[in-house]
Amino acid sequence: MSRLILALDVYERRKAVEIARKTAEYLWAIKVNWPLIMVSGLGIIRELRGATGLPVIADLKLADIPNTNRLIARKVFEAGADYVIVHGFPGRDSVKAVMELGETIVVVEMSHPGAEEFIQPATDGLIRMANELEPFGVIAPATRPGRISYIRSKLKPGIKILTPGVGAQGGKAGEALKAGADYVIVGRSIYESDDPGKSAAGIHWGIHKVLDGLR
Ligand code: XMP
Repeated sequence: MSRLILALDVYERRKAVEIARKTAEYLWAIKVNWPLIMVSGLGIIRELRGATGLPVIADLKLADIPNTNRLIARKVFEAGADYVIVHGFPGRDSVKAVMELGETIVVVEMSHPGAEEFIQPATDGLIRMANELEPFGVIAPATRPGRISYIRSKLKPGIKILTPGVGAQGGKAGEALKAGADYVIVGRSIYESDDPGKSAAGIHWGIHKVLDGLR
């Protein structure tokens, strides 16, 4: 099974479906974010599922009060999303409101430089909350493999770690996996390449090599 998740951050419906079809055989799941949903509408979730048969992760990074998180997440799950990504910092009631509706992934640390300002100092508390609520998984930064190892060491076994930041942001898939990540999220390095299928294949087989080495 693949450990690669495509972050499909294009605007246009037709382009999204085309890239998804070309890369599907190398992916575990497709992640959609605001750029695609805003321009192409929520219907893109079912369309991508239909075109590829893959799970779809809606990366909306919900960060609102429980009622608003619930109102948004309900529509996204109804639209066919298999997983919804939420921020943990608004607190356990906001996260729980989404978990009651479907599979949830909680951001415990982010991959960009600014993450060191506010979210990294809060990571320990966010991990404690995740251990208590037991969501499907958490998001941790591939740009800082040391932080992935740290998060893995504190996180309950069974809770998956998904890591964005590979490629365009400088992180390396192999290092993230060696540090304890379960899945690697890659966007621009695949969808901006001249041959997305070939790029996805390269990353997928690279991941396999690393995993074989770890066995
Ligand atoms: P690129 O193009 O950088 O795309 O490969 C990465 C994708 O992942 C999202 N992203 C994050 N999501 N925490 C998150 O929850 C993060 O630290 C993080 N870093 C990147 C980004 O929005 C894009 O879809």
